[in-house]
This record gives sequence, structure tokens and C-alpha cells, in this order.
Amino acid sequence: MGNNTFNIWAIKLETVKLWADLKNMPDENISVLLDEKRVFKPSEKFVNETNVKQWMDEHNIKNLEELHKKAEDREWFWKEISKDLVEWYKPYDKVVEWEAPWVKWFVGAKYNIVHDALDKHVKSWRKNKVAFIFEGEPGDVQKLTYNDLYIEVNKLANALKKLDVKKGDRVGIYMPMLPELPIAMLACAKIGAIHSVVFSGFSALAFRDRVNDCEAKVVITCDGFWRRGRKVYLKQQSDEALEKAPGVKHVIVFKRTGDAVPWTPGRDVWWHDLVYGMPKECESEKLDANDPLFFLYTSGTTGKPKGIIHAHGGYAVGTAYTLKWVFDLKDEDIWWCAADIGWITGHSYIVYAPLILGATSVIYEGAPNYPQPDRWWALIEKFNVTTLYTSPTSIRLFMKYGEEWIKKHDLSTLRLLGSVGEPINPEAWIWYYKYIGNEKCQIMDTWWQTETGHCVISPLPITPLKPGSATRPLPGLSADVYNEEGKPVQNAGGNLVLTHPWPGMLRGIYKNPERYKETYWSKFKDTYLAGDVTRKDSDGFFWIQGRADDVLNVSGHRIGNSEVESALVSHPMVAEAAVIGKPHEIKGESITSYVILKGHITPSDELRNELREHVGKEMGKIARPDEIWFVSDVPKTRSGKIMRRVIRAKALGKDVGDTSTLANPEAVDEIGKAK
Ligand code: PRX
Repeated sequence: MGNNTFNIWAIKLETVKLWADLKNMPDENISVLLDEKRVFKPSEKFVNETNVKQWMDEHNIKNLEELHKKAEDREWFWKEISKDLVEWYKPYDKVVEWEAPWVKWFVGAKYNIVHDALDKHVKSWRKNKVAFIFEGEPGDVQKLTYNDLYIEVNKLANALKKLDVKKGDRVGIYMPMLPELPIAMLACAKIGAIHSVVFSGFSALAFRDRVNDCEAKVVITCDGFWRRGRKVYLKQQSDEALEKAPGVKHVIVFKRTGDAVPWTPGRDVWWHDLVYGMPKECESEKLDANDPLFFLYTSGTTGKPKGIIHAHGGYAVGTAYTLKWVFDLKDEDIWWCAADIGWITGHSYIVYAPLILGATSVIYEGAPNYPQPDRWWALIEKFNVTTLYTSPTSIRLFMKYGEEWIKKHDLSTLRLLGSVGEPINPEAWIWYYKYIGNEKCQIMDTWWQTETGHCVISPLPITPLKPGSATRPLPGLSADVYNEEGKPVQNAGGNLVLTHPWPGMLRGIYKNPERYKETYWSKFKDTYLAGDVTRKDSDGFFWIQGRADDVLNVSGHRIGNSEVESALVSHPMVAEAAVIGKPHEIKGESITSYVILKGHITPSDELRNELREHVGKEMGKIARPDEIWFVSDVPKTRSGKIMRRVIRAKALGKDVGDTSTLANPEAVDEIGKAK
């Protein structure tokens, strides 16, 4: 493909802008704005060698349509799928039990995900296969086999028991991208404890909230780690968090940088001291398949993050199934999911699914552009990576650096690519396809959420692709687009819903069943509301446009508008704040805030910076507003609710629609002037 053709291909569809328009529209007016016509098909040879095609042949299924049809018999499908992927200690009596909105999968089975992730492999030829290839930001490399991992996990599991961690207890994990993070997660799972990992980029205060909410008894962290050539002192941050976390009795500290750290005798213990001399064997606790495996906090529309609960059995089946079919994972592959383990993508596709499948995966500690913008391409070349799974934000960042950085490296081992976290605009899709995949790798644009546990709407490697569409729900999974009345709509925007339970489905919100029901199950009866604006085209392909609710998606990470507002208002000089998202070329969405200061305070640039840093301290750098405007008022309803939709429309120069219901229509003009 010559450059000219590429330019024509990259017709300025301006998805980001269109999507922004869409977010401003009342739902009933959501219209078809994007009509992407190009279709990309995999080669016949490639198709014939895929895991999914082989499964179809074994089951006498001729084509994709037939596969989808057959998979509608969910009992049959999940029974067939699960038997290739997991080994139960005791078989289940029933595949699924659904009493909306509560679900149980593989009812009656005894299980532990660590059996499939580790125990079974050390009894097989995979014992000495490399599970993780780790590269630190300074360039240090470590390879851990399944047996190495098994021993480390067992030792830590025994150590946790010694600290009196029992089945059902919560362990807070605040760690960066080191192999010890999966080791810590697996050690908890092994003994039936519930891990709650908090992204290491989150602030001390964000960590504190989560640790307290899940009532963690033990915390696992490290002294520090490398980021962009500098050290991040995580132990300090952890200590700050734990100043007000009385439930935490022990802190296990892994030594990464070797720097001196503050120490609380009696509470803190070095990881290496703790595991020293611990037995190398530790039997995995035989749990109920529906016992919780982990909590992972995610943003919602209120200021308080939700502790999403996932359970052992269904999650194991759902994650392993999707990795095996969507990413066609085989024993020869070198898999690299370049997400952070602190988010669901890393939980599912760095830790659990690849280990269940006995894969070899890459873990990289540092920044993608350190010390140069070709760090990732150097890693792919060095480790012969065959499959890369990343986010549109990263792709757009690399687009900005230009192709020269890619051309320095041999990426010919790549055979399949993936995207997740936000809508991928066709221009980025084509760039990814052309420059990273060398026009021979299909791109799996996978839609899913913390709540779904695994990919739901996604191509299979045999699916013809339309750039920008996550295609269709995977076999055995079901989604639709409903209008406000709960009627399915096609070729028009609406609410993305999931119409049947799925194996990796969340089991609730920790300590908050009411919020679980209200958030996901109250708008449409017995139907899961995903919270995304979506269109389904005439071929049944889904085009996910972005969040329908007040949740921002910054670089593929969910941040609640109201969380940022609360962080701003917690500053002593701020009276009120309204936060909206604006389309951003690289990050997808940027954070803009309108701040009302307390009566006697004068606005200044210093204060603006201070507020940015304040939000960073409260929540983590990722949530720092890109823009802060000082205003005297923000548009509100008569009941006092901030009208973010109106603010967003005005800030983007769009029609704000009817403002007659506002208590203070004049505030809209002020937003318009804040530019
Ligand atoms: O808005 C959708 C977007 O990310 C949200 C879920 O965020 P989180 O729970 O943090 O999980 C992200 C990683 C799975 C969704 O509600 N999203 C995720 N994947 C896509 C997407 N939007 C469009 N296309 C995708 N492929």
C-alpha cells in the first residue's frame, strides 16, 4: 500500500469528534454518524490453523454463522468449552443458575483457579516452560518457568497463612509491573483469600479508600519501582495510605530498588525474610467454584468506586476461552498484553488466562517511550513476541512519534494484534494494521469491562473486520442495543446491553447489593446495562461510541466525573466543581474542570497548578485535570444537580438545547467564555 492509498484510506472520519457530538445528543437523537465500509479478511491458511476453526471442525460446524447458532445452546456450549480449559476437583451439577440479577456458574463444583494456572502445569511437560519473561525499565531481564512460579507462589501462600490470612480474608496489593505482583495474587487465590489489587499509579489516598472499603488485613507492596528513568517510592505512598487504615495488621514489602524505606516494626516485613525457609509445597484450597477470587475497584457515576467481585470458576472459563479463541493462543506463542496488572485487562490477560493456557507472556515494568519511543518495538524484536494486545491510546501515542521508530526493528514475528479500553478510531486502526502488523495481522478490537471479566464483543481471528467496530458478541455471549423503551434498535444509537449471563460476569459490588441492582439491572428488566452508547449496523456489527453516563475514559481508564469533582472540592479553597470530558487526540478524552472558588479566594495560575496537583494527590496523576477554569457558577437544575451535558455541549461549541429547566441559565454563558 503506497502512501497515497494510505491517505485515502485514512479518510478523516474524525471519529473522536463525531463521538463527542454523539455524547452531547439526547439519546433519542443518536444517529448513524459513522459508516465505515472497508472489510479486512484473514487468509485462508491463517483461518485453517486457528484454534477456533479446529474446534469447529471437531464439532462438525461449517461456518461462523453456524457456530453462533450452535452456541445459543449455552448449556451445551459452556460444557464443551469448559472441559478443554479447566479441571474441577469435583465436577459441577449444573452449568448455570440464573436468578436475575444473581448468577452462579458451574454450580456444585469444587475448584481453585490456581490449580489450572500452576498446579496442573508442574505435573506436565510445561513444568520447565517459561511462564513470564520480565524486563525491568533499566533493562534487567528475568525468566520464570511454571515451576519457578509454582514454588514462589507456594512459599508466599505458606507465609500468608503464617500471618493468619484465611479463606475469605482480603489482601490489598499495591504493586507495579513486577513478576511478584502475579505471584502475590496467585498466593492469595491459592489459600482462598481475596486479593484486591490497586493500580500503582493511584495515589496513597485512593489506595487508602480501597483498602478500607475491602477491609484488608494484609497489604503487599514494594520499596519502589522504575518509571521514566526515575524511582517511584511506593512504600512511602503505602505508608501514607495506611496511616488511616487500622484494619491492616501486616505489610509485606518486596525489595525492588534496594533504597532505604520507612519502617514500622511489628507491622512491616520484607518479602524475602518472610518466605525464607517456607515450604515449597502448599496445597491449593478446594473452594466452591463460586467463591470470590478478587475485588477490583472501578469508577461509577458517584464519587465512590465500586468493588467489583469476581469468582473462581466462571472467570477461569471465560478468560481462558476468550484468550484461546480470540487471540488464538498456542504453546509456541509469545504473548504480550501490554496493560497494567492493576486494571482488569492485566488481571485477565496477563495473569489468569495466559497461565491457565500455559502460555509464555511478557511483563514490562516501565514507560512505553523510555528511554526512546521504540522501547516496545525493541521488546517485540528481542523476545519474538507473536501477539500484542494494547490500547488505542498507546497506538495514537506511537503514531505521533512516527514510523521511523518502528522501521528500526524486525516485527515479523507478530501474527495477531489486539485493542482494548476505548473505541479505536479507524485512522489508528489502519495505522496499527499497516505499520505494526505489516498488513498481515488481523486486529482484535475487543469490547469488555471490569464487570464482564473478559472480552464480550470481539472478533475471532476468522471474522472479517471493519476498522472501528468490535464486530459481534462472541459465540455463547449475547449483546444488543436498546432504545430508551428497551426495544432493540438497529442502525441507530442506543444503550449497549448484555441479554444473558456470561461466565466471567461480576457477582456484585462488595458490601453494596443495592448499588449493583441499581447500576446495572434497573433500567431494563433482567438485562445488564453496560453504560456505553452503541450502534448496531445492518450486518449486526457493534460500533461502541463511548460512555453514556458520567464516566470519563482517559487513556482507556475509567474515571468518574464525580470522583474528580469530589477531589477538587476537598481542596480548602474550592466551593464547587464540575468536570467534563473533551475529545483528545491521544488520550481519547481529556479532563476539563470548572471550579467555583470560595468567596474570598482570588483565582491565579499558581492555584490552578495547586489544584491539579491536589487532584493528583487525591486520586493519582492520571486523574489530574488538563484544564481548570475558574467560574462564578455552573449550570444546574432547580434541584441543584450539575448539568454536565449542558456544560459539555457549551464547552465544545455545540447547541446546548433547552435550558429552560435550569435554575441559572446565565451560568451557561460563562462556560462559553471560559476558553
Ligand atoms: O466504555 C467502554 C470502554 O471501556 C469501558 C470499560 O472500562 P474498564 O472497566 O476500565 O475496562 C477496560 C478494559 C476492558 C467500557 O464500558 N471500552 C473497553 N473496550 C472498548 C471500549 N470502548 C470501545 N471499544 C472497545 N474495544
